[in-house]
Amino acid sequence: MFRRLSNWLSRSLANQLLFTYLLVLTIALMAVSVWALVILKSESISDLRNALQVEAVNLGLEIDNDLALDSPEATARIQAAADRHGGKLNAWVTVVDSGGHVIAESGMRPSRSKESISDQPEINDALAGIAAIYTRSSHLTKTDWLFVAYPVRSMGETAGVIRVGVPLTEINQRLHQDLIVFLEIILATLVVTVLISRWLAKRVTQPIRDMSLTASQIAAEGDISEFVPVLRKDEIGELANSFNQMISRLREQERLRQEFIANASHELKTPTMAIGAVVEALQAGAANDPELRAQFLHSLEKLVDRQSNLLKDLLDITRLDASVRADWHEEVSISSIISDALEQVRVQAEKKEIVLSNLSNADGAVVSGNSIQLQRAIVNLLHNAVSYTPVGGSVSVETQIDDNKDVEVVVKDTGPGIDAGDLPHIFERFYRADKSRTRTVGGTGLGLAITKEIIVRHKGSVDVESTVGEGSTFTITLPLARH
Ligand SMILES: Nc1ncnc2c1ncn2[C@@H]1O[C@H](COP(=O)(O)OP(=O)(O)OP(=O)(O)O)[C@@H](O)[C@H]1O
Ligand SMILES: [Mg+2]
Repeated sequence: MFRRLSNWLSRSLANQLLFTYLLVLTIALMAVSVWALVILKSESISDLRNALQVEAVNLGLEIDNDLALDSPEATARIQAAADRHGGKLNAWVTVVDSGGHVIAESGMRPSRSKESISDQPEINDALAGIAAIYTRSSHLTKTDWLFVAYPVRSMGETAGVIRVGVPLTEINQRLHQDLIVFLEIILATLVVTVLISRWLAKRVTQPIRDMSLTASQIAAEGDISEFVPVLRKDEIGELANSFNQMISRLREQERLRQEFIANASHELKTPTMAIGAVVEALQAGAANDPELRAQFLHSLEKLVDRQSNLLKDLLDITRLDASVRADWHEEVSISSIISDALEQVRVQAEKKEIVLSNLSNADGAVVSGNSIQLQRAIVNLLHNAVSYTPVGGSVSVETQIDDNKDVEVVVKDTGPGIDAGDLPHIFERFYRADKSRTRTVGGTGLGLAITKEIIVRHKGSVDVESTVGEGSTFTITLPLARH
């Protein structure tokens, strides 16, 4: 039984809520009912007691003189009065003399019996001059009785006692009926609660079920084709909204992934086909002509170079995506990676007669991260600057330290500049501002994307300013390592 209940509870949130509601409601309603019954009982008893007291006092005023007289006429009058008052309240009226002997009893024949009932507590109290109230069970009727005993005074002395008693059966019966009504109300409330809860639970759990179904579809089949419906404005509606945002995000990521694969394959296909064409030409006879052979072999070398650079870039960016960060907590000296990076583009710059100058002044500036990656980020900027700046131009690197918090590495060139329409996109993967020109220069559009990825992973940022015809300025900002 207990196990079944706990199974039923653990199966659904709605069941747990329903169970808690029912428990709390039952306890609360029971407590209110018990409290109401107790109050009802004590009020009814106190009303009854007051009525009995009034009757006893009135009877006392009527018979106080006769009590003192020991004549059959007086006794008959007392009996008549007892009958009258007893009949009024349907009560049992007993009159005793100062010795505790019964003089009259309602519904009985008048007689002055010798029997003394002074041992009964209320009579005893009243004979001592105290008005007494007792509830006790009678041996004869096996029910509870309420007794009020009242001393009757005559000439300063207690001449006798009037006792008025009623059975409490009527009150108990009424309380019993009230209890049944209360139980019926509790039962009806519980039934209504169950019905309302089931209706509410359905409304609450249905959207959650829908969402969990969609989630398991995504988990099992990677199916993100459908959104969950948002039909409400409450917390569940918010949850559905967040859920749909998550699906949109997954879709966007999936779109980027597809796009990346398509672009990468396309970029790989172009040089591969060119290599095939050169090889074909060589096989077709070009290999026999020494001049042609040298020319074809040279272009083959360039194509293979381009291919391997592209593969390196692709590998780098996928590694960055996969968050492979073996050692990203080195202390990296900014000035040393700048001079190493400049060395890497020096030959290319000299070939194009470009003045390459190191204006940096960042001795001692240290950032925490990976030196190879950071150097790579700077080399990419320098490589672009040297590639896109025409013969005879100049390229410089400067540094600036802000507030002892950040270091800026600024790469400036006197190149063609970048069109304002292209500026927001140049950090995107495979984006090239001037498709025809960069083809000849040989870029794939991954360099800046890699730089940005590396810098962002070092908690820094990359910005660009450019004026067409004047040149471009790329600024890397990195947080300095704390000592
Ligand atoms: N210093 C610069 N001067 C002018 N244009 C630039 C400069 N740097 C970048 N660009 C433009 O931004 C585009 C994107 O640069 P990015 O370095 O990402 O790609 P890429 O140089 O074309 O190819 P990759 O670097 O992958 O070989 C370039 O194609 C170019 O049009
Ligand atoms: Mg580049």
